[in-house]
Amino acid sequence: MNETINSILNRRSNRSYLPAPVEQEKFDLILQCGVFSPTAKGVQPWHFTVVKNRKLLDKISAINKKEVFENGNTAARMSAMTEEYDNFRGAPMAIILSGMTDEKYGEADCANACTNMSVAAHSLGLGSCYIASFRPAFSTVEGKELIKALGIPDGYTPYFALALGYINESPQERTARREGIINYID
Ligand SMILES: Cc1cc2nc3c(=O)[nH]c(=O)nc-3n(C[C@H](O)[C@H](O)[C@H](O)COP(=O)(O)O)c2cc1C
Repeated sequence: MNETINSILNRRSNRSYLPAPVEQEKFDLILQCGVFSPTAKGVQPWHFTVVKNRKLLDKISAINKKEVFENGNTAARMSAMTEEYDNFRGAPMAIILSGMTDEKYGEADCANACTNMSVAAHSLGLGSCYIASFRPAFSTVEGKELIKALGIPDGYTPYFALALGYINESPQERTARREGIINYID
């Protein structure tokens, strides 16, 4: 099968990783695939933060866990109660995608980049997981300080992250695709 189609159809969200680091040339290529994603009006309203420091990812998760536990809905609070809670799923690194807060399609543009990067990661033999669950962390005072520590520029909101690494799991069966979601008009 065509390699692009193959990667799109077989990419999965991976939630268990080996500690082995990802080679710089691989994540540089992945980032390149992110920055070549389409953006509304070609504005490229994004900032990419490559976090290889696991302690920083743990800190985001810890802040998130506390915030979700105190203010989240029941399902979020249940998951925050687990010992192994980690928004980044044990991956050795993550790329945080922040969008220009005032740009109408900033979030959609970051979503495009996140998807492209996840497909690129798969094609390079890496696992990835698209993450949004870390967002509550950044609504806290500690989280706002973290935004500075992460070098995210003023006026940008962290929307998504892509956890990246070599996988340590056999992904579960795929959920069947919903039926009746396509119609054709001739
Ligand atoms: C916008 C968005 C946010 C997501 N956030 C998370 C997340 O915070 N944590 C997580 O484990 N998976 C997250 N996912 C991954 C989805 O759960 C996953 O794509 C879905 O279950 C389908 O599985 P697949 O990617 O293996 O096909 C997110 C996916 C998207 C598109």
